[in-house]
Amino acid sequence: MTEDLNMSVTNGSSLCRLSLIVTFAGVSLIIMFFWLSPSNNCPPPLLIPKQYIPDTIKSSVTEAAKDKPILLMWFWPEDFRFDLNDCKNIFNIDSCLLTVNRSLYSDADAVLIYHKSISWDLTNLPPSPRPPFQKWIWFHLESPTNTQKKPGLENLFNHTLSYRQDADIFSRLHLTVRKKPDEEFVIPKKDKLVCWIVSNNAASTGVGTRNEFYREFSKYIQVHMFGKAYARFLDHTEYYPTLASCKFYLSFENSIHKDYITEKMNGPLAAGTVPVVLGPPRKNYENFYPRDAFIHVNDFPDAKSLAEYLLQLDKDEEAYRRFFNWRKYLSPTPHLLQQQEFDLPICTACDYIATHKEYKEIHDLYEWYFN
Ligand SMILES: *[C@@H]1O[C@H](CO)[C@@H](O)[C@H](O)[C@H]1NC(C)=O
Ligand SMILES: *[C@@H]1O[C@H](CO)[C@@H](O)[C@H](O)[C@H]1NC(C)=O
Repeated sequence: MTEDLNMSVTNGSSLCRLSLIVTFAGVSLIIMFFWLSPSNNCPPPLLIPKQYIPDTIKSSVTEAAKDKPILLMWFWPEDFRFDLNDCKNIFNIDSCLLTVNRSLYSDADAVLIYHKSISWDLTNLPPSPRPPFQKWIWFHLESPTNTQKKPGLENLFNHTLSYRQDADIFSRLHLTVRKKPDEEFVIPKKDKLVCWIVSNNAASTGVGTRNEFYREFSKYIQVHMFGKAYARFLDHTEYYPTLASCKFYLSFENSIHKDYITEKMNGPLAAGTVPVVLGPPRKNYENFYPRDAFIHVNDFPDAKSLAEYLLQLDKDEEAYRRFFNWRKYLSPTPHLLQQQEFDLPICTACDYIATHKEYKEIHDLYEWYFN
């Protein structure tokens, strides 16, 4: 015990050491008292032997910064090629070296692997031998309904990057708390009541629930439709202005899963429009968004009563305005579009690997993802 303590006082001055010896001799209670009371002369001893002090504490922060971890992006997600300096330029994240250069494989601290790009026979995964220090990150943003269960992905990955809150790396655009209230916000000018942009309408993606709701809903209220599925394609420059011009936007997710709340929600919030959401239960939305910022379809017994409520709000300026009270203390962040759609999760991963050196294994990926 005494020995351990002595070893741990790594930087103690001779005065400290002297007081330790005297104390442990148990000669004087008074000296004991002074030793125990906080003193400017003696730094608090580290109560572990020197050889157990982790490197992370030994090396200075500046040293660590010189040695940025390498994050190798194995596939360009959806083949969207963005500027690898986006992390630094857009999010001010400069904690890793992000690369797509596969010749850095044997040196890469982490490899980011986009699930949808993995071939069914797994032959396009990084080669063996895999460096023992290297971590593989499973990168996937689709809901379980739209996830292909490619076999053989057990015992390969160390971290997950997903929209799910229980993933290691959790990527979502949050509303940001502001200390100084924003008194400036003005609701954008509206010339449409309800809008909806639909780019995917393939039945296989689980859109049955939302389509069924829409069919009933549109009997009672006019919905302005945009997007690929409706041959009124919106250019990316038209996305936010179009959302802003509508009082309500149908934030209908393609499939219903916990935490699966996508840019369909973020878009209208950022544009200054009230989202009408169809997705996981209201409680799940309220983990991320204030309750009075949106309307949930489950708040109504049926599509007809929701339509009636929106028509009534259209005539009640005061009640409509209340949906924006949150803007005073919270700021939304518009999400990036098209080629830059994956910037945020990738930059989040970059930040993560720089601060997480812990050992971890993912045994059964699908067990976690599907159950
Ligand atoms: C990839 O990295 C290797 C090794 O550092 C380098 O020689 C090569 O020029 C790089 N290739 C590209 C396309 O940057
Ligand atoms: C990463 O995980 C795999 C299995 O999932 C494991 O074999 C490997 O040792 C882990 N490596 C690190 C550095 O965590």
